[in-house]
Amino acid sequence: MEPINVSEYEALARERIEAGVWAFYQGGSDDEVTLRANRSAFERIRLRPRVLVDVSSIDMGTTMLGTPVRMPIAVAPSASHAAAHPEGELATAHGAMVAGALMIASTVSNYPLEEIANAARAAGGYTGEAPLWFQLYMYEDTSLTVDLVQRAQAAGYRAIVLTVDLPRLGNREWDKRHNKLNPGPPQGYRAGNFKTGTDGDGSPFNQRLTWKTVDWLRGITPLPIVLKGILTAEDAALAVQHGVAGIVVSNHGGRQLDGVPATIEALPEVTAAVEQAGGKCEVYLDGGVRRGTDVLKALALGARAVLVGRPILWGLAVNGSAGVTSVLEILRSELELDMALAGRPTVASIDRTLVRLP
Ligand SMILES: Cc1cc2nc3c(=O)[nH]c(=O)nc-3n(C[C@H](O)[C@H](O)[C@H](O)COP(=O)(O)O)c2cc1C
Repeated sequence: MEPINVSEYEALARERIEAGVWAFYQGGSDDEVTLRANRSAFERIRLRPRVLVDVSSIDMGTTMLGTPVRMPIAVAPSASHAAAHPEGELATAHGAMVAGALMIASTVSNYPLEEIANAARAAGGYTGEAPLWFQLYMYEDTSLTVDLVQRAQAAGYRAIVLTVDLPRLGNREWDKRHNKLNPGPPQGYRAGNFKTGTDGDGSPFNQRLTWKTVDWLRGITPLPIVLKGILTAEDAALAVQHGVAGIVVSNHGGRQLDGVPATIEALPEVTAAVEQAGGKCEVYLDGGVRRGTDVLKALALGARAVLVGRPILWGLAVNGSAGVTSVLEILRSELELDMALAGRPTVASIDRTLVRLP
């Protein structure tokens, strides 16, 4: 039976994904307080719909850093898509482009970024051009960064998304337990962007990243820089000062520091700080987005768009590229209905008055 919502995809994916990969996909850190909060915080927010508004036509189109997209819902960067499906990120890119959604490809994809870009272009985007951004992890070996950024630029990626919440890997105990039982990388693992096929060609994550690194990164590429993993007003203000084009309010899907707020709880202080800094910086959110109403709530609190992580992997595992398209279409059609029921026929009409915080 065709899944009718994102949680049905989750249940089906669980049946298909090997236990070690499932542990890697689903797990959060420590006691998974933040992982659960990402969902429960959405559920605590109430909507304030307006009635007697003409909702005969709903327009979900928007732009992300100037790139037109069919929906304010994009594919979050995640590692190792080949563990879900042999076509890995190529299928994800195809599925996202068919849906008209922007995709952020991860540094630790199983396929090289050039092949992902080709797959996206072959599928044709919403406007005929592939809306793709590249997510960057920085390793101790800086030459790897320069190389990745130049390659991403040459391959037509439109922004660099620097992930700033992973100086080290969080304490993911599902993974630990599984790796003890079954040592070795997850099935299907090969870091497609690196010569040796291992993450960062074996170079460890760089723990010395600072705001100076952000300035340096801006200096080596004309592409806009987005920082992923910001949770406070203080860091949002610094991001604006350092000229970044976008911020992703993210706790890495509850996989890094446990006990940080749900992203929807952190969003208001980040958007307020960006506004106060007079910033033209766009703010996005990821973490726990599973329903159209979650998207509505994030947009009401100032996000320009949301990213979805695990649901994309579930769709990919269940039905390859068509599964990715289907997950995005489900979220999009839920959002369309929700906008109509909320009396908000355009993305621009979704404002702060739509929500009541707990
Ligand atoms: C299996 C998995 C792998 C991930 N890999 C990356 C990655 O390579 N780079 C990155 O910036 N974020 C990564 N993330 C975090 C996601 O980009 C995103 O922040 C998170 O999944 C959003 O939460 P959600 O899964 O609840 O939608 C990963 C998340 C998961 C679940």
